[in-house]
Amino acid sequence: MIEVKNIDNYIKKIAESIANEIKLKQENDQNLVLGLATGSTPIPLYDELVRLHEQENLSFYNVFTFNLDEYCGLDKSDPNSYQYFMDEKLFNRIDIPKENTHVPNGQVKSGIEVEYCKDYEQKINDLGGIDIQILGIGRSGHIGFNEPGSSVNSITRKVELHEITRKDASRDFNGIENVPTHAITMGMQTILSAKRIFFMAFGEAKREITKLAFTKEVTDNVPASHLQNHKQLTICTDFII
Ligand code: PGA
Repeated sequence: MIEVKNIDNYIKKIAESIANEIKLKQENDQNLVLGLATGSTPIPLYDELVRLHEQENLSFYNVFTFNLDEYCGLDKSDPNSYQYFMDEKLFNRIDIPKENTHVPNGQVKSGIEVEYCKDYEQKINDLGGIDIQILGIGRSGHIGFNEPGSSVNSITRKVELHEITRKDASRDFNGIENVPTHAITMGMQTILSAKRIFFMAFGEAKREITKLAFTKEVTDNVPASHLQNHKQLTICTDFII
């Protein structure tokens, strides 16, 4: 657990841990597999990784990334798509080979979604699993888009979004009616298999659900509560839980 309560300090520490791990792998001719999140929470972290690249020569040539989720139905050129977000906030600003980056395809044809999701999962496993996972939390208690009721054994799959999640996204989409109803998400099992997890929740709006996730029972009704059982979890919040 990182013993600081200031967001900037958390960001610096997480970025430093990632950078150290990348460099260690480089020294041993190995790859690092990063699990990445979208939303407002990780933006400062991506800015700091870009700064390390630009000002401190951190290279991402040996890094593979897998994003947690993507809205169904959005083209990757849509500014609300997570592919667009990741390109803008991180991938286009560092030297990671584009073919090493993975964001679920929200436009995968119906009928082959299950196969597609299995393949996403397989790609992660073929690279030895996720070394470091970046995570936020939604007010529904979701991690990725694993909404309440998601099984701890779930893998990457198509899911229906919770009403709270769609409501929270409605500003970006100019109205809840424009927010996609479904998404593809890494599963609970996929996320919990990460060797190390950095969990971030900042701001008053996240306090209640974060408290529920970490101080009450572990239950599928609060998917983030399963993090209590993870062995290498760092919780970063700017409030007391
Ligand atoms: P946020 O989203 O970072 O935009 O608050 C987090 C999440 O829903 O997981």
